Amino acid sequence: MKKLVILISGRGSNMEAIVRASIPDAMIAAVIANKPTAAGLDFARAQGIEAQVVDHTGYANRDAFDEALAAAIDRHEPDLVVLAGFMRVLGDDFVRRYEGRMINIHPSLLPSFPGLHTHRKAIEAGVRLHGATVHFVTPTLDCGPIIAQTAVAVSADDSEASLAEKVLAQEHIIYPQAVRWFVEGRLRVDGNRVTVTDARLPCEGWIVPLPDA
Ligand code: GRF
Repeated sequence: MKKLVILISGRGSNMEAIVRASIPDAMIAAVIANKPTAAGLDFARAQGIEAQVVDHTGYANRDAFDEALAAAIDRHEPDLVVLAGFMRVLGDDFVRRYEGRMINIHPSLLPSFPGLHTHRKAIEAGVRLHGATVHFVTPTLDCGPIIAQTAVAVSADDSEASLAEKVLAQEHIIYPQAVRWFVEGRLRVDGNRVTVTDARLPCEGWIVPLPDA
């Protein structure tokens, strides 16, 4: 059994997708939020999952917050830390502590559009394909080895909101899938390249859905 700790900051729909996937041999030990108002905490509690808040506003600086967060995580001795819409930048020491066992989902086809407002940036850049990326977390923001990506077509009439909705629906598919691969011990990292052993998908590590009609 692999233990997971999921970090959220708000809605928590990716966390919910991972919980609902009921991944065999995965146990969600805790959901931790940096905001007491994070809506996802209610879902976690309703599922009987330990839901905890480490409020970043209660700490003098990032190091103090990172330390408190690490203590809250380590109490559960997780095999994997899953960032699911966790909106705090984490310090290098924190990231190194969980190297190789902390993953994130980012709403763009990295390395395009790291940081915030990815859907707006995609529309402004005029790209035809946009999407989401699951990656291992390294000290450089939104830059770690890529585990899986999903692509959606950008329509001429897409708004930031419509694009966000399309991408989010795909996030809910690839994130549980990537977690499952990790839990099954099927991810191999070699520098920036991640391979998935025995992937049953047509393209290893990729899920490219058909564009919307
Ligand atoms: C998602 O789009 C995720 O890619 C990004 O923040 C959003 C979080 O949504 N990092 P939710 O909290 O999982 O619903």
